[in-house]
Amino acid sequence: MKNILFVASEGVPFVKTGGLADVVGSLPKCFDREYFDCRVILPKYLCIKQELRDKMEYLTNFYMEYDQKQTYVGIFRSVYEGVTFYFIDNEYYFAGSVPYGNILWDIEKFIFFSRAALSILPVVGFKPDIVHCHDWQTGLIPVYLKERFHDGEFFRDIKSVMTIHNLKFQGNWDVPTIKAYSELPDYFFTPDKLESYKDANMLKGGLVYADAITTVSETYANEIKTRFYGEGLDGLLSARSGDLRGIVNGIDYKEYNPSTDKFIRYKYNARDFRKEKIKNKRDLQESLNLEVDDRKFMIGIVSRLTDQKGFDLIAFMMEELCQMNVQIVVLGTGEERYENMFRHYDWKYSNKVSANIYYSEELSHKIYASCDAFLMPSLFEPCGLSQLMALRYGTVPIVRETGGLKDTVEPYNEYESTGTGFSFVNYNAHEMIGAIRYAYDVFNEKKREWNKIIDRAMAADFSWNVSARKYQEMYDWMLGY
Ligand code: ADP
Ligand code: GLC
Repeated sequence: MKNILFVASEGVPFVKTGGLADVVGSLPKCFDREYFDCRVILPKYLCIKQELRDKMEYLTNFYMEYDQKQTYVGIFRSVYEGVTFYFIDNEYYFAGSVPYGNILWDIEKFIFFSRAALSILPVVGFKPDIVHCHDWQTGLIPVYLKERFHDGEFFRDIKSVMTIHNLKFQGNWDVPTIKAYSELPDYFFTPDKLESYKDANMLKGGLVYADAITTVSETYANEIKTRFYGEGLDGLLSARSGDLRGIVNGIDYKEYNPSTDKFIRYKYNARDFRKEKIKNKRDLQESLNLEVDDRKFMIGIVSRLTDQKGFDLIAFMMEELCQMNVQIVVLGTGEERYENMFRHYDWKYSNKVSANIYYSEELSHKIYASCDAFLMPSLFEPCGLSQLMALRYGTVPIVRETGGLKDTVEPYNEYESTGTGFSFVNYNAHEMIGAIRYAYDVFNEKKREWNKIIDRAMAADFSWNVSARKYQEMYDWMLGY
């Protein structure tokens, strides 16, 4: 039996702001349980739903020296769908209605979390063979495993993996601050280690010290070695390219299943979608006060409203898009300018645009199930899960060919009758609208072809089966099997 420990800042069903949570919550269930005991450590945020908090079992607490104070570390445990989750409790750090706040506060909070996560291991008696760290919040863990925690017998020989879900966020702040919270000696704050452009960089620590590095698609693994996508770390990532691999994300096929989904009114599958899926479209049109009309080309968007996701292209084309026979249904929160942009078009074209500026799991499932197409024209996209959800529900993705979008959506080829979606290459609003128009024409004029695209989309397999095995192979390789 090999022990794997995931440490992350979010994970479903407990807390989620984006795809990281989906991965952390769904991947551990998919490992072969005869050979891998994979457990997860998360912060015990106050914003975790009460019913889930009520099921957590209090184990014990101790005080850890942090920020020159004796700081409380409570440990809770919950077993969810067979996976053991540990929670680090500290109401000073993990209060608040969302997991993240301003960056300086987050840095203090997640250095505390990372140190606490390692410190509870001897207490709960779980010795990992590999600690699998996710994103910058846990970037110091590989450093600690090589440094101070290494002193103790317990921590000797523990290996680490650093997974990049999004290179844009690195946990950067000035050296004195990060040195003070981390209590790492001067030795670590040089440009070949944690220092990066004069500041200290937590993710970089992980990338330098982890035994293996992964990211969430093959294309993104290549892209981040280039200047455009490398966010200043392309040199380091190129230097470590022998230890860097791209493993595409999967999604939980039980949770996202149109034939059992509790959030959608009319269940359907790959055989009966031609008759049944459209009923969900009508249902959604009605509930969002859009015109109930099968012929309207209904485009869905479920996303954090940030630059990463290509919203400036959409903003640029909204007026033109609204002149077509379309409906646009948006669910998302984020940058105010995009929230307001969608509110504006919702007001101006109230029968065509529905802006839902909030977070709702239920509406997200309804959109995946009901729309004709799903738009995701990202500037960069490490993997992207939304397009996988759209494929699973037979909602045709329209994407930019970058990162995981490129690896998971096969562009429609009308001559060969292949492909699961529509795509464009350059980050350019006209190219995007060209792809949307192409999809629109096929939808309107070649219904049989359109339905065959849906057949292929629904037949694609992005469950965790294949990718979980790739992680297992990597773990085996790291442990010398
Ligand atoms: P990212 O992690 O960059 O935000 P992904 O496509 O990997 O992008 O994952 C996004 C996840 O968050 C998906 O599960 C998507 O359905 C969900 N999501 C995003 N915004 C919302 C929202 N407003 N309401 C519900 N779910 C959302
Ligand atoms: C990040 C990326 C997204 C990816 C997710 C899970 O949030 O932006 O592309 O799917 O992590 O790995």
